[in-house]
Amino acid sequence: MPLDLNPDLDRLFANPMAEVSGVFEGKKYRLKIVIPDYARNVTDFYHDVTGISLPDLCRRVEIPFGYKHFGLVCEFAAPIELKLHDDDMALEQSVKSLVDRIGPVSIKNAYLSSQQRSMGHRNRFPHLSFHVDRSSNQPTPYSLFSRDPFDPEQIEPRTASTLFVANIVAYLQLIKEKQADFATEKGIRTLYNIFAKTDMSQAINRVVLEQAWNAPRGTGEICIQDNRTVQHASYYRDAARQGYKIGVRYVG
Ligand SMILES: [Fe+2]
Repeated sequence: MPLDLNPDLDRLFANPMAEVSGVFEGKKYRLKIVIPDYARNVTDFYHDVTGISLPDLCRRVEIPFGYKHFGLVCEFAAPIELKLHDDDMALEQSVKSLVDRIGPVSIKNAYLSSQQRSMGHRNRFPHLSFHVDRSSNQPTPYSLFSRDPFDPEQIEPRTASTLFVANIVAYLQLIKEKQADFATEKGIRTLYNIFAKTDMSQAINRVVLEQAWNAPRGTGEICIQDNRTVQHASYYRDAARQGYKIGVRYVG
């Protein structure tokens, strides 16, 4: 049986500030939503930017937005091997459904099988340069990022994070920074260089989701996101240290 956290997410949706726990293959895990009430947070954070409601804005600029809450973290108490996709890079349906409902999903203290860990490539994204890895018409629109606890480099916590924002947040930040004009800007760009002058402690956990990759030495971490709905970038917490390359593979 594949890991299916959707029933747990149903419980969280009923009580989004809570934490739920469960057991999979004998291993305990805890689950929580990273940014409850994301839509309200986005509305509050950008309240003076466009003067129209978030749903009206999404319609007007043709950028869909469907997340009431944003980001899920599942942390296992003991290390576990998970099968999240097959050898043809088809993502488990239960994981797709989860990402569709809540956005980026982070699984801590987990790793892929030894055969699958070597799949994909490694990459390091530029600092605060929000982008997507895949276009919406490619057959593998999801990115699966990974930190391999058996790898001599990735065994250590990483000094750089990965940040995620919904497409409409990238749009709003661009307008807020006056890099584009609300009267004419429409649709999703392929690159947003944003937040350079923002105190990120004010944005993270309100409109920006951080995958920190900083679990203790020897902890596997996996993060899955949909390139059709979110933009991602690196965030060098320490500007002098970009962090090692993270595992990347595309699944559909
Ligand atoms: Fe990327």
